[in-house]
Amino acid sequence: MTPPFAARRARLLEAIGPRTAAVFVATPTAIRNNDVEHEFRQDSDVFYLTGFDEPETVIVLAPNGRLKDDSGESRPVTLTMFVRPKDPEREVWDGFRWGVDGAKQSFGADAAFNIDELGKRLPELLARHDAVVYRWGNKAFDDRLFGAIQYARRTAGRSGIAAPTRIIDPVEVLYEHRLRKSPDEVAKMRRACSITNEGHRRAMETASPGRYEFELEAVLLETFRRHGSERPAYGSIVGSGPNATVLHYRRNDRRIEDGDLVLIDAGCEYGYYASDVTRTFPANGKFTDVQRAVYQAVLDSQLACIAMVKPGVTQGEIHDKAVEVLTERLVKLGVLSGDVKELIKKEAYKPFYMHKTGHWLGMDVHDVGSYFLPTSDGTGKHRPLEPGMVITIEPGLYFGIGAEAAPEALRGIGIRIEDDILVTEDGYENLTAAIPKSVEEIERVCARA
Ligand code: GLY
Ligand code: MN
Ligand code: MN
Repeated sequence: MTPPFAARRARLLEAIGPRTAAVFVATPTAIRNNDVEHEFRQDSDVFYLTGFDEPETVIVLAPNGRLKDDSGESRPVTLTMFVRPKDPEREVWDGFRWGVDGAKQSFGADAAFNIDELGKRLPELLARHDAVVYRWGNKAFDDRLFGAIQYARRTAGRSGIAAPTRIIDPVEVLYEHRLRKSPDEVAKMRRACSITNEGHRRAMETASPGRYEFELEAVLLETFRRHGSERPAYGSIVGSGPNATVLHYRRNDRRIEDGDLVLIDAGCEYGYYASDVTRTFPANGKFTDVQRAVYQAVLDSQLACIAMVKPGVTQGEIHDKAVEVLTERLVKLGVLSGDVKELIKKEAYKPFYMHKTGHWLGMDVHDVGSYFLPTSDGTGKHRPLEPGMVITIEPGLYFGIGAEAAPEALRGIGIRIEDDILVTEDGYENLTAAIPKSVEEIERVCARA
């Protein structure tokens, strides 16, 4: 299969036109403590456009780019890569690097330089362009880019050569491309979802009172890696008992008790594509009546939301459906009382359902792409789904142990159910449908001898 990177760059160049350049920067490396670094994971844009996975990399796409060579001759370049140079001594310690020649020979760069030359070369590359596609927010690099633009303005400007006067956020161009997944990308996401299926099943089978949350986390990670996933797509959440009500719980260090529900929000990354799945199940294999009632409320809202998915529907409408079903059920559960429509208007559900119902999914777990289309008054309106988009649907109900507004029997119960949904021409495909979800299926997989 031909690597997709050159075609992606061509598509971006076509979209931005001949007078706009684009600059993308590798994820900065970060110290964890003393001389230990956090694991490096390439920036999704850099990988999407080049497949290059080394740190300290900057890529410049410059449709009107020219660079002087050693003889002073100026020649056109479109893709220039700034990379770590070959360094036999460092490579003994840290492993292979592609270096400058590798960037040209194996990654399609028209020119490549040691990253140390960025300051010197960037103004020359940005000259002859009116705008630069760049996502600001990387403080250290923002200053470098603005410095290079200023330099290009001072030098090129005086001779009549254009220099950029505008920064364009990639959300306007590149993220429209990343938002709609190609068949190759969907294939990677399918694989990620299928590995995640096995991880969740094995975690359900392993969980039992007396075991620790981290044992389930270990089962997930072991399953992901064994099947060739590079890493989890985000920090796995394994929350038992009251920890299931903590939305971003990450300690995963509690002993699981009899009668607990366990909420696992975990998904692997495969080939740079994320899966993002939540399941909630009884540690001893059997829901109590109260747990089952809350579980069924969340499940019914999730199923109603999934059934809506098709081109033209918006994530706003899906969220409204989740809120509607959950509010009705909160009344049935005796948590809220009054007219459902009024309760929704007053956002009475918010103490128990405080997050949105889903997000884009792709190379990033909270994937890029705008959720709204612009309106003339600047408020934006929810954008309709299109084939090839992938979203999560993940309603939940959370009754913290201190939630005095909830009946005592519900306190300490947290439930979320999350699937990954591909929008198709005439509806949807649930990429994580194989992961146990109905009460019966969950109780079967979790059954204890
Ligand atoms: N795992 C992050 C999320 O569900 O959005
Ligand atoms: Mn999610
Ligand atoms: Mn999740």
